[in-house]
Amino acid sequence: MKVTIDGHEIEVEPGTTILQAARMIGGEVVPPAMCYYSKLKGSGGKCRCCLVEVSKGSEADPRPMPKLMASCVTGVMDGMEVKSTSSPRVTEARKSVTEFLLINHPLDCPVCDQAGECDLQNLSYNNGKEATRFHEEKRTFEPENIGENIQLHMNRCILCYRCVYTADQLTDCRSHGVIGRGDHAQISTYISKAIDNEFSGNMIDVCPVGALTDKTFRFKSRVWFNKPFNAHRDCDKCCGKTTLWMFGNEIQRVTARKDEYHEVEEFICNECRFDHKEVNDWVIEGPRKFEKFSVINQNNYTRKMDTVKIATEKQILMGRDLDRKKISMKDVPLNEGNTLKQ
Ligand code: SF4
Ligand code: FES
Repeated sequence: MKVTIDGHEIEVEPGTTILQAARMIGGEVVPPAMCYYSKLKGSGGKCRCCLVEVSKGSEADPRPMPKLMASCVTGVMDGMEVKSTSSPRVTEARKSVTEFLLINHPLDCPVCDQAGECDLQNLSYNNGKEATRFHEEKRTFEPENIGENIQLHMNRCILCYRCVYTADQLTDCRSHGVIGRGDHAQISTYISKAIDNEFSGNMIDVCPVGALTDKTFRFKSRVWFNKPFNAHRDCDKCCGKTTLWMFGNEIQRVTARKDEYHEVEEFICNECRFDHKEVNDWVIEGPRKFEKFSVINQNNYTRKMDTVKIATEKQILMGRDLDRKKISMKDVPLNEGNTLKQ
């Protein structure tokens, strides 16, 4: 079936969602997604970041859909026409959703380990307002220890449920989930039961914000100071394919490899993630490229560098000319209303 998004027509299989169709087109038309995760069944429909306008329902029923639709859970229909970035309503809605997500989110990016690779930071950069209208007190929680490898900062959580699906679908014993509802909803491990199953570390990778971070990497470095390398090892529990985040010769952090939508390509086990921090443990394949627009990309050595030309002479001469004018005041008329006395 055919679907058109922001004027780009594409042919897709029945059952494809608008978000998936947009990702097939790629580029600007792809709506942001904070809760949808293609590798996790049932994810999506929670954060409303991916809202789009359906200006034509289908060939059979061309009426527009009155409300904006969550593109990650709305299937395409044959002949459907969708507006993403081309719709002022969508732009406005994304701004509102961003503002809403930031209501309770602390602005502690300067001390948060997720800074630089945080989806909410990127979302705010693109759709955020510079001032907040929320003057009430933000939600706070009692600190909770959820195990020796994962740090939970509940006040940063946007309740996207990705980690809950990860715990459900990747581990055999579910020990953590969302308790409470509304303003009281929080990620917890029930009776503070430590998460010790072999794939629990993947919750860190799926968390779009800094609510779940790696305790072994905590406060070690800003991510943009690390050099990411693809590496692998023989592992009998997982694929063993990872990204090593190096500072000099030191492996500071190990994560799964992520694609351009910041989604894990293949989940990895805790042994690869937490227990192998020696260079000799790994076969290093080479520098990792990042397709996603992010601060990690800034000055990344895997990017082809632009040639910078500095017209030093021209600038200096221009400066000198300005100085000369200021000092000699040759452009200041000494007659006609000028109070300068000689
Ligand atoms: S802890 Fe992270 S992954 Fe889990 S619900 Fe909160 S924001 Fe989502
Ligand atoms: S990504 Fe669609 S609602 Fe969250």
